[in-house]
Amino acid sequence: MGRVDGRVAIVTGAAQGLGATYARALAREGAKVVIADRDKGDAVVNEIRSSGGEAIDIPTDVSQEAATLEMVSKTVEAFGRLDILINNAAIFTAVERKAFDEISIAEWDLMHSVNVKGTWLCCRAAVPEMRKHKYGKIINISTSRIFQGVPYFLHYDSTKGAVLAITRSLCKELGDDGIRVNCIAPGSTMSENVLKRTNWKGSGAAVQLQNRMIKREEMPDDLVGAVIFLSSAESDFVTGQTMLIDGGVSTH
Ligand SMILES: NC(=O)c1ccc[n+]([C@@H]2O[C@H](COP(=O)([O-])OP(=O)(O)OC[C@H]3O[C@@H](n4cnc5c(N)ncnc54)[C@H](O)[C@@H]3O)[C@@H](O)[C@H]2O)c1
Repeated sequence: MGRVDGRVAIVTGAAQGLGATYARALAREGAKVVIADRDKGDAVVNEIRSSGGEAIDIPTDVSQEAATLEMVSKTVEAFGRLDILINNAAIFTAVERKAFDEISIAEWDLMHSVNVKGTWLCCRAAVPEMRKHKYGKIINISTSRIFQGVPYFLHYDSTKGAVLAITRSLCKELGDDGIRVNCIAPGSTMSENVLKRTNWKGSGAAVQLQNRMIKREEMPDDLVGAVIFLSSAESDFVTGQTMLIDGGVSTH
């Protein structure tokens, strides 16, 4: 029996990278999984299905309210309910690192509209469905960078600080509905798009590796244990928490 058997999970931004890793892991543990990315998720869906799991692709731009409402209604149409939402979609590897006064207004607004507003909109769309069953698991994705203070990525880091704040405040509004809201803060992790970016100015990766208690690269699978724990009944008495998974660079 899987640890999330029979549960229905939406993973945003799961067409590739860490989101795809979470989706595969949830499917292995028995969940029916929705890939909700602005990119096509059929490759991940096919992979999950060919391993005997259940998955569908619902193309979604998380920064658009109508798209997030449709993401949830199509999920319920296909799988009958919604139990788990992983807010993983973000503008991250697609942007340049730069000094705070070189960031354009448009870059700042785009980052905040996807990473912050997108997280809020997905919660807003998912909660009514979770309330029907008085049960739900929301997992937001922040970053360990916000516990360190790292230069040249202020547009991004400010969004991930907001994600932590959303987690702490939203859990207080949803406890009576049986909905748990937690957060994972990964360190610099070798997702496929991070591996493609060798030129990031002031990248935290090298600094993090030096300061790690466990001296090796962080890999996508290092995050899977936390995702499954926070998605499963094993964490039903845990809410409002942030799990820092960075090999011991940061503590909080
Ligand atoms: N890899 C790391 O080092 C690291 C560290 C800490 C936190 N994170 C966080 O983990 C998550 C995934 O990271 P990754 O390395 O796989 O990055 P990535 O850039 O490869 O993946 C981001 C995904 O989000 C999708 N996306 C972007 N805008 C979207 C939108 N408007 N609507 C729907 N989907 C959208 C992209 O298509 C992509 O599939 C992000 O939230 C990132 O901030 C990553």
